[in-house]
Amino acid sequence: MINTHVEPDAELAAIAQPTVYIETYGCQMNVSDSELMYGTLAAHGYAQVDGPDGADVILVNTCAIRENAETRVIGRLGELKRNMKPGAIVGVTGCMAQRLGPRLLQQAKHVSLVVGPDAYRALPQLLDGARHGERFSATDFDLEEHYEDVVAKRFEGVKAWIPVQRGCNYRCTYCIVPYTRGSERSRKLDDVVRETHAVVAQGLTEVVLLGQTVNSYNDGTHDFADLLRAVGAVDGIRRVRYTSPHPNDFSDRVIAAMAEVPTVCEHVHLPMQSGSTSMLKRMLRRYSREDYLACVGRLRAAIPGLALTTDIIVGFPGETDAEFADTVSLCQEVRFNDAFMFKFSMREGTPATRMPAEWTVPDAVVTERFDRLLGTVRGISREQNLMRLGATVEVLVEKIARDGHLWQARSRDFKTVMVPADSAKIGDYLTVQLTGTTGATFTGTPVKPRERAPLPMAAGAA
Ligand code: SAH
Ligand code: SF4
Ligand code: F3S
Repeated sequence: MINTHVEPDAELAAIAQPTVYIETYGCQMNVSDSELMYGTLAAHGYAQVDGPDGADVILVNTCAIRENAETRVIGRLGELKRNMKPGAIVGVTGCMAQRLGPRLLQQAKHVSLVVGPDAYRALPQLLDGARHGERFSATDFDLEEHYEDVVAKRFEGVKAWIPVQRGCNYRCTYCIVPYTRGSERSRKLDDVVRETHAVVAQGLTEVVLLGQTVNSYNDGTHDFADLLRAVGAVDGIRRVRYTSPHPNDFSDRVIAAMAEVPTVCEHVHLPMQSGSTSMLKRMLRRYSREDYLACVGRLRAAIPGLALTTDIIVGFPGETDAEFADTVSLCQEVRFNDAFMFKFSMREGTPATRMPAEWTVPDAVVTERFDRLLGTVRGISREQNLMRLGATVEVLVEKIARDGHLWQARSRDFKTVMVPADSAKIGDYLTVQLTGTTGATFTGTPVKPRERAPLPMAAGAA
């Protein structure tokens, strides 16, 4: 821990109930961590506010996955510096904090705290120190830390993010996550089940189990199949999802659990990264094109109506025209329902930095390939969505849509469906007919009376 002393701030020290705002970037793991941070700070008397204006403490929970994720944060820190209330404490948390540590304190003088993902428990004490003018970087990994005793303050109205595993034991050559999140460790199954009961008691009916390679979950006694069965059987839970699984960790047991537990939704986000075996080898993904296809085949054979989405990187070092063509053709072969596509971004310290400079794919080539892949993926997605028109599906109403007249709801197979706002409220399950599609999302018309979400149980019942 680095500690630099500067002048104390008398104004902040005098505040009775300080307010905190956390701005979250990156993946669901970060969203979940922000909920844990709010929980930790609430237990120490902080009040949560919805924006940075006037907040006593502003935490920026960051992502380091690609360079532009970090550039955004640097820009945002500059903006906050200009607009924050005098004397406010600014902290940077998350993966960029872990990656840069004290370097961030040197670069941004208005930042008092830099706190990595395993050190959030210390936030109240660190903030006390910051209030007295101290500056800290806390980035030690703690392989025991699951924040078991922290009660998360959840943002989402209808679904709960539940971290079941932290860190990652893969070493994909492009990826910064193993360095920002440390080694893989799983929570105890009983603790996850206990949290699921608490979630139901709060009136939520959907859980999303989180881990970087979530299906490699193993708490020493139980594997991911056991976890799916245990969480899926909790009374009051109607939908179980998980993200992200690794293709290598889909054991027959996990696939059987997914197929047999009725609450587990028919959707798998299965990151493919590339369709070329030689490229996958350079990425150290530890599977071939054929292995990936076999995994898809096993999943589809076991789970009728399964929707598949994926992640793809374009322009990884050495990507040839032929390798890229393999990626396009794998998308055509699998026919993903949707895909997140990323231009490769070189991350400091990753094995990719040691690849020959001449392997770098020129920007113009990356952009051309990216646009081509995007066209292919969107086209396939559109074709499949058009074929779904007329189908009757169950949707869970999640939130108000941007235009304010429609609710945004989601089907079990992860389709976004817009429904008339007067037909339901957030948390309701509706049976709708898919009546229109933009190609990417649907509009739905309710065909059965709505089902109310269960009322939250009395406080203290959890
Ligand atoms: N643990 C997850 C991935 C987390 S990162 C998994 O293994 O699937 C989310 C996605 O970001 C990855 O699937 C990958 O497609 C993308 N990504 C990771 N590092 C990247 C980099 N350096 N440049 C571009 N995209 C990257
Ligand atoms: Fe990164 Fe690979 Fe681990 Fe996913 S499995 S977090 S891509 S190293
Ligand atoms: Fe980003 Fe860290 Fe998640 S790098 S994607 S916030 S694990």
